Amino acid sequence: MATLKAVRGTRDLLPPETELWNRIEATARQVFARYNFGEIRTPVFEDTALFSRSVGEETDIVSKEMYTWEDRARAQSEKPQSLTLRPENTAGVVRAYIEHKLGETGQLQKLYYIGPQFRRERPQKGRYRQFWQIGAEVIGPPSSSSESSLHDAEVLEMLATLLDELGITGWTLELNSVGSAADRARYNDVLRAALVPVAPKMCADCQRRAVTNPLRVLDCKVPEDQPIIETLPKISESLGQESKDHFAAVTAALDAAGVPYHLNHRLVRGLDYYTRTTFEFTHGGLGAQNALLGGGRYDGLSEAIGGPKAPGIGFAIGLDRLVLTLQTTKPVQKAASLQVDAYIAPLGENLNAAALVLARDLRRSGLRVELGDGTFRLKKSFETADKIARRIVILGEDELRSGILTVKDFASGTQTKVPRAELARFLQS
Ligand code: HAM
Repeated sequence: MATLKAVRGTRDLLPPETELWNRIEATARQVFARYNFGEIRTPVFEDTALFSRSVGEETDIVSKEMYTWEDRARAQSEKPQSLTLRPENTAGVVRAYIEHKLGETGQLQKLYYIGPQFRRERPQKGRYRQFWQIGAEVIGPPSSSSESSLHDAEVLEMLATLLDELGITGWTLELNSVGSAADRARYNDVLRAALVPVAPKMCADCQRRAVTNPLRVLDCKVPEDQPIIETLPKISESLGQESKDHFAAVTAALDAAGVPYHLNHRLVRGLDYYTRTTFEFTHGGLGAQNALLGGGRYDGLSEAIGGPKAPGIGFAIGLDRLVLTLQTTKPVQKAASLQVDAYIAPLGENLNAAALVLARDLRRSGLRVELGDGTFRLKKSFETADKIARRIVILGEDELRSGILTVKDFASGTQTKVPRAELARFLQS
């Protein structure tokens, strides 16, 4: 029979690698807490319309990358429904914001999430069909200052702090403003007109984008198209005064906080909901998929999915890519940090139950303990313990009767007799 494997573009994460994932997630939670963010968990699947209305029909994500299915009705009272595995989490957060009327509190909502997302992309290094994001959103009614450029700067400063605390160096913050919805519409027209004479000389994708979604032309990576793209009008030339002022305030605050950035007028992002500030943090160590994270403002998103006016800004970090970056820039974790404090070796099957009790007591005092099996001979117990533990604790009939255990330390080679009552303290030393 053919063996079953994880589906293409998905993968298993195993120890010890998962230790690194946990460490990153724990650091992110700590940093988010310091900036007063709370956690939100939304479902991994949603009504398909949520994504087509927010991310946008014409985007790659919605037009070709979503896992969508018709969910059959289970009862007469149910209707079949088109459902989709979430390709990103901003739409779900804004849906929850609307559904739970979070805007009515009048407070700015600062929410973060950690979870899997799904896109049917061509798998390659740093690009998977199930991947993980750590993201955060700041959203609220205009009366809660949700439009303030200060939040844009604060979110970017928080990201710089998080990457620093994770030990990631060498990142670049690419920054742009795509303007208000009106600025964007104006730029779309300008760009569409400018593309008419040049599009026939461009790649097939750009020829299509020139008609359906001209902004996407700026994302094109085909080398031959680059000189043409450089001659196209820039979005900064289409920004209204308000958008220009907002963006100037963001960069001024970043300058004050000492967060370095690189202005990139071609950064328009692959999702349609963005307005004004957009950004990506890239890292050279990642190769072709060099975006470590992306985000921006989405002042009209809530209204686009039927909610009240609720400007917002947020980001999502590609956790898989964060792990890759740490693995390539930092030395591999030492096996020593994964060693257990003690390996308990019962010297016969009749001592297994006593060994279980001993292990329980040591674990309850906070020690990391591995339990051997009494059918192992002493030699095999030592071999196994030497690979995974700092010390071995021998539990034979004599030890059980006398309450004095024999402990061997592998690094020093010394063997010590330790009374059971003192064992936990001894192993902690
Ligand atoms: P995004 O740029 O589509 O934005 O994704 C954010 C990050 O997720 C990317 O920079 C990348 O690191 C990671 N990522 C995306 N696709 C894959 C993949 N197939 N495999 C591995 N990693 C991937 C968003 O998702 C927006 N929701 C971000 C946001 C939040 N904007 C405002 N708030």
